[in-house]
Amino acid sequence: MHCDVLRVDPFHPDPDLIVRAARNLQAGGLVAFPTETVYGLGANALAEDAVARIFAAKGRPATNPLIVHVASIADAQALSADWPDSAECLAARFWPGPLTLVLPKASCVPDLVTAGGPTVALRMPAHPVALALLRASGLPLAAPSANRATELSPTAAEHVLRGLAERIDLLLDAGPTTGGLESTVLDVTTDPPRLLRPGLATLAALEAVIGSIERTTREASAQPARSPGQMRRHYAPRTALEVASHSRRRVEELRQQGLRIGWLTHLDTGDGPGDLGILLPADPVSYSAQLYAALHRLDDAGLDRIVVERPPAGDDWLAVHDRLRRAAE
Ligand code: TXA
Ligand code: MG
Repeated sequence: MHCDVLRVDPFHPDPDLIVRAARNLQAGGLVAFPTETVYGLGANALAEDAVARIFAAKGRPATNPLIVHVASIADAQALSADWPDSAECLAARFWPGPLTLVLPKASCVPDLVTAGGPTVALRMPAHPVALALLRASGLPLAAPSANRATELSPTAAEHVLRGLAERIDLLLDAGPTTGGLESTVLDVTTDPPRLLRPGLATLAALEAVIGSIERTTREASAQPARSPGQMRRHYAPRTALEVASHSRRRVEELRQQGLRIGWLTHLDTGDGPGDLGILLPADPVSYSAQLYAALHRLDDAGLDRIVVERPPAGDDWLAVHDRLRRAAE
């Protein structure tokens, strides 16, 4: 299969190119597109055949359900059998944006999308290209991150092509994404709502709108998948990775053993992280925005191991800790 790569302006995408991508989706094609979090691999969520192609392209187990992207709150309501007050308040405050809501599914949503389950994950993305594509196609779009299953999520078009170039029809390249980590996944079918995957929308921001949220991510990863994104070894680079509290010392120790070690740190000691090192920003938002790109770069360098300085504790870093823990498994 040959993948057409269309470069578009991230803020004002050329309508002709968006229409081309939309027609492709209407015809059952696979189109990778940018969101404000990571690139997604989109298909018509209402067409089983198209959705089946997503699973095949990613090598994703059929037990792992997909997020459906919508252009409006009304479109989300049409795909859910119930729209509780919590969904109303959260969507009003966070959409378009990096929050995915898990709701009872409407019967029009194919079972393949929800992995046979009774709930559907919905999100209205904030990226102008994603929104333009949703509107032009007139379709809800099932879209997981545009990477092969178990590999790192893509934050730039070249990351998408690395894993999927031969497996998709079209890619809208709008440059690097700004958020850099996936959306927060929140189950609002329970009271209190449950956090299934920490992400760019922080717990503090969510709790300010709907009150307390149950945090189940850590324990749930040991149980049968409630959100299979909690599966082990998800979001992982190919290179072995470890998180260390005194990472400089650890890196030196491993290099003395003759190993080629990549180093990722947010602690600026003034003398720079060296050749195979990357200095990340010390605030969680900028750190998140750059983490995957840094991991992709080190992963491509053919190293023996990547050592990451342990980020600070605290809820602002929850999503970063979650992804690093999985990457290290
Ligand atoms: O930021 C994002 O969310 C990106 C962009 C493209 O929107 N998408 C993304 O999709 O990260 P994916 O498929 O890589 O991760 C979706 C997560 C998985 O952890 C999946 O198990 C969970 O959402 N999920 C999907 N449907 C669900 C459902 N009905 N119930 C519980 N979890 C669900
Ligand atoms: Mg993913």
